Amino acid sequence: MAQTHSEPGTSRRSFLRNVGLTGGAGAMFATMGALGLAPTAQAAQREQSFRPLSAGDFTLTGRAAAKVVIVGGGIAGLTTAYELGKAGYDCTVLEARDRTGGRNFTVRGGDTTTDLHGTRQTARFADGHYMNAGPARIPQWMVTLDYCRELGVPLEVFTNVNADAYLYNESAGMTRPERYRTAKADVYGYVSELLAKATNKGALDGELTADDKERLVDFLEDWGELGDKLTYTGGERRGYTTVPAAAGTPGVLLGDVPTASEVLASGVGRYFSFEFGFDQAMLMFQPVGGMDQIPKALTRAVGARRVRTGAVVSRITDTGHGVSVTYTQGGRTKVVEADYCVAALPPNILAKVPHNLGSGVQSALEAITPSSAAKIGLEYKSRWWELDHGIYGGITETDQDVTHIWHPSYGYQGERGVLIGYYNYGDDADSYAELTPQGREKRAVAAGVKIYGEKYRTELASSFSHHWRQTPHLEAAWHNTPGGPDDVRYKPLNEPTGRVWFAGDWLSHTDAWQHGAFTSARKAVTALHARVLSS
Ligand code: PHE
Repeated sequence: MAQTHSEPGTSRRSFLRNVGLTGGAGAMFATMGALGLAPTAQAAQREQSFRPLSAGDFTLTGRAAAKVVIVGGGIAGLTTAYELGKAGYDCTVLEARDRTGGRNFTVRGGDTTTDLHGTRQTARFADGHYMNAGPARIPQWMVTLDYCRELGVPLEVFTNVNADAYLYNESAGMTRPERYRTAKADVYGYVSELLAKATNKGALDGELTADDKERLVDFLEDWGELGDKLTYTGGERRGYTTVPAAAGTPGVLLGDVPTASEVLASGVGRYFSFEFGFDQAMLMFQPVGGMDQIPKALTRAVGARRVRTGAVVSRITDTGHGVSVTYTQGGRTKVVEADYCVAALPPNILAKVPHNLGSGVQSALEAITPSSAAKIGLEYKSRWWELDHGIYGGITETDQDVTHIWHPSYGYQGERGVLIGYYNYGDDADSYAELTPQGREKRAVAAGVKIYGEKYRTELASSFSHHWRQTPHLEAAWHNTPGGPDDVRYKPLNEPTGRVWFAGDWLSHTDAWQHGAFTSARKAVTALHARVLSS
């Protein structure tokens, strides 16, 4: 991807993330699972450490459930209240915005936002249409799907990669988009040809036995669809100008197979590793009807009476025997007194809230910096991408400042639809944020017209744009945590000394994913509960 460097945490993300079963613990879980004593190996692979609390935890010890104030009603805060609620804790959630969910925000017709510059927008999307302004895709291994199951949130497939979506690299001289499938056929074809030839010329003799070489060449012939003399000459994988149909219509293959040199120069190969990522590999999922079905279900499960919206926290004080949180709501200053507190605000916002939790907490919060990302929803009167281009879901990748264009993974063959006209990060997101909503729409549409043609402009019905750095009470899409969340400088947040715990995706190894918020909340809940049971 063009903007790979500004995606969250890519520097410390690796294929070796520690979620796989390793050694003895894995074998032990599998055995216990077979005996019905433990979650199955598959379940354990997702998150090994969490044991949900239960009502019996207190009746068995004779202790009383404590009172907990939770600052922030995003996924981490709601999950904290939900999980503590299982043991009967008395939780109060303070949420500054007028709805829960934090960055989990689904925009529908009638929804209004005002950004930090005072720009007001109201979405005009038709009934049943929406855009997920924040999280929008869920891999199968994340606990997010377990919460969907537990909370009864129905799922459908989110198409993250589509052979018929486009790639467009204007900077490499492309004047028309190319289908993913065509680009893959050419890149895999030539790479296979070159490697097969090098192998047969003896270039790998120091690395491979004769048998290895034969097997490698066999593989490459198949992988790259190589023909005679191990050369790539194109084939049906690239696609057709006329597709095969009834007898008499064998189909007409796409012509003009580019040379290896042209394929390398086009740079299309750089997009393919995206789908190998542990986080981004298909299948992926989305809640039916919008991502905010998750915070809505969590809020219902917690109980609306425990959640105060429009409550802006202005001070957190650890009194030694409790925690007192001051907030304003509807112009009035109020205080919640509790035994414990879980602070589940973004670190950049939390750093601005006066507290007495120590300078270690403050400098840890300040070390974590906010990142930008943005999306625009473009609502169209027709689903011309399906009708004219045969694209049903999936993502078009570009080197334009719009970066990614998403086709909706719902509402296929309906009348209208909402495309994501840009999903971009960093400087690209910031440069759109400076424009008026009309200016953003104009610029996004101009980029799209280059790829899809005039209907990208003429079929447009309405648009809605959202920029996380400019969103009150959040001011970030995700965060950069130098050194990673386990760096010693974040110890005051990971192992707090007083009565306040911290939670959020930004304190996880999966920042910018709800999984990070869920698992971080579970960690805080576990620590808080252990403290209560031992005190
Ligand atoms: N979870 C977000 C997304 O899938 C942000 C992200 C992008 C996280 C890329 C990791 C890698 O778009």
